[in-house]
Amino acid sequence: MKLQNRTHTCGELTRHQVDETVMLDGWINSHRDLGSLVFLDLRDRWGITQVTFNEDDTAPNVFQRAKALRDWDVIRVTGKVRPRPSNMVNRAMKTGEIEVEANSVTLLNKTEPLPINIDEAATVSEDLRLKYRYLDLRRRSLQDALMLRHRLAMATRNYLDKLGFMEVETPFLTRSTPEGARDYVVPSRVQRGRFFALPQSPQLFKQLLMVAGFDRYFQFVKCFRDEDLRADRQPEFTQIDMELSFVTEEDIFSIVEGMMVEMGKVGGIAVKTPFPRMGYREAMSLYGSDKPDIRFGMELKDIKPLVTGAGFKVFDSVSENGGEIRAILVKDGAAYSRKQISDLETIAKSYGAKGLAWIKSTADGLASPILKFIGEDRANAVFEALEGGTGDLALIVADNFEITCTALGALRSHLGRALGLIPEKTFAFVWVTDFPMFEWDEEEKRYTAVHHPFTAPKEDQLHLLDENPVKMEARAYDIALNGFEIGGGSIRTHDMEVQKKVFETIGISEEEAEAKFGFLLSALKLGAPPHGGIAFGFDRIAMIFSQADSIREVIAFPKTTSAGCLLTGSPSAIDEKQLKELGLKVEE
Ligand code: AMO
Ligand code: AMP
Repeated sequence: MKLQNRTHTCGELTRHQVDETVMLDGWINSHRDLGSLVFLDLRDRWGITQVTFNEDDTAPNVFQRAKALRDWDVIRVTGKVRPRPSNMVNRAMKTGEIEVEANSVTLLNKTEPLPINIDEAATVSEDLRLKYRYLDLRRRSLQDALMLRHRLAMATRNYLDKLGFMEVETPFLTRSTPEGARDYVVPSRVQRGRFFALPQSPQLFKQLLMVAGFDRYFQFVKCFRDEDLRADRQPEFTQIDMELSFVTEEDIFSIVEGMMVEMGKVGGIAVKTPFPRMGYREAMSLYGSDKPDIRFGMELKDIKPLVTGAGFKVFDSVSENGGEIRAILVKDGAAYSRKQISDLETIAKSYGAKGLAWIKSTADGLASPILKFIGEDRANAVFEALEGGTGDLALIVADNFEITCTALGALRSHLGRALGLIPEKTFAFVWVTDFPMFEWDEEEKRYTAVHHPFTAPKEDQLHLLDENPVKMEARAYDIALNGFEIGGGSIRTHDMEVQKKVFETIGISEEEAEAKFGFLLSALKLGAPPHGGIAFGFDRIAMIFSQADSIREVIAFPKTTSAGCLLTGSPSAIDEKQLKELGLKVEE
């Protein structure tokens, strides 16, 4: 591309341009004044080029100007490309064979000393990094991550376009969709006392696009959810949202797998298809998670039959009440101190477990606080079932299915990381299917939809809607990558009668359904094709592909864990006049 000013970027010049006169624009990455020689590293997004000013060959005023420059000043340089002396060649850099011998320099903008050190190696508090995000974003690692994100988006758009998908934008000022989090709401000035909800997802609109006959829709779209934030959650995040008509689960799986292959090509990852599949119960039973990290073993084992009936009250009562007793094996864990085990117990308890029983197998025999209750033979049988031996440690939880599995699953994840069991640069996708349709919410004393209420129940189980809703399975699926849920979707209900029944089951009255989702119910009667779809957490995918620890590393302007923006200082108070216009009063 030919521009008016610069002839090249700072990452472009090689031996091929030697003797050419060039003009470069950029920032001073480092400024070294060696008396009769000034060296600059001039940088821009594309790279770094070394620029030299030599007292003997440069006009005196230019040389003095070069001496007065400082790091991060914004400058324009013209000069001649020269090969570097052979002992100065840097093969690691594209521009490492040349330098630009400058004959003029213009200071485009003077820069004050930067408030944060943006060296890759420097440790700067995250608060400061976020406050000066535009400086933080100068770091190569962040630029690389955002570039990867861009390329992943391009590859996805191209792939979906080729398959006949159409990108359609849906509104942000809309009404609540029941995705399970709290809404961000926006007051209307024009219609006082009324509020928009920012979409938690474009779920209803994409279904309406199917009724409209768009057949294959996708969208890179911001979603807004007011929920507890974690390393993989932001209050506003980006979904790759998709919806298709006349499809089955299998169609969606194969389109998605193809999409991941394309993304893998961008990320330098060989993605093997088809992805393994696992039912929800199997994932929970084996990995203690509905987003199992299958990069390593340490699977949960059912030991209920081995330890029940010995007279240990905890285990016997859990068994009697239909609960589960499961265990994992920690190789070489017999050396763990009391403190280490008690830390593990704290983790298990934070997931609802009432305790963490353990058995060590040492050279002197078995050691365990429950040995006196269950006896040597049963303890040995546990080790055998876990394929453990001398030097190992068994960790046991007894509780209901959910708690037993999730507590052990959390220990498994923790230990997998702590013990270095997770192979690097491995990308393990897995489909999780056969989710329950509903779960019982003890607090609200009602059923809630596990995915969302527009998900279709399995057709052969429709009778369970009346008989036993918790037994019912949904036509829903999640996709997990390395222990993260990167996407989820379902085949939808296209029959208004079933949709009404589902609302009824989750305690949404006919009037409420009509008021909130009447437009959908009407649409379902006006030629809704069978349809289904999925949505991906694009930030999460970019995070995993760039091997970052947090989605904040792949979002240009992320929010803090308290859902604020340190750069702009939002959320902020608004003035009296604005409040008045909106008809709002703030209670302290
Ligand atoms: P779901 O609620 O599972 O499905 O969301 C889809 C994916 O979005 C990502 N995600 C998030 N990423 C970052 N921060 C968050 N706060 C956050 N919340 C969710 C996850 C998740 O898998 N409408 C349905 C999709 C459908 O049925 O088609 C939906 O939104 O990676
Ligand atoms: P107690 O008899 O209560 O001292 O418990 C003996 C051992 O069993 C302790 O190590 C407890 O941590 C453990 N324990 C208690 N409740 C459970 C449970 N529900 N699952 C697994 N271990 C438990």
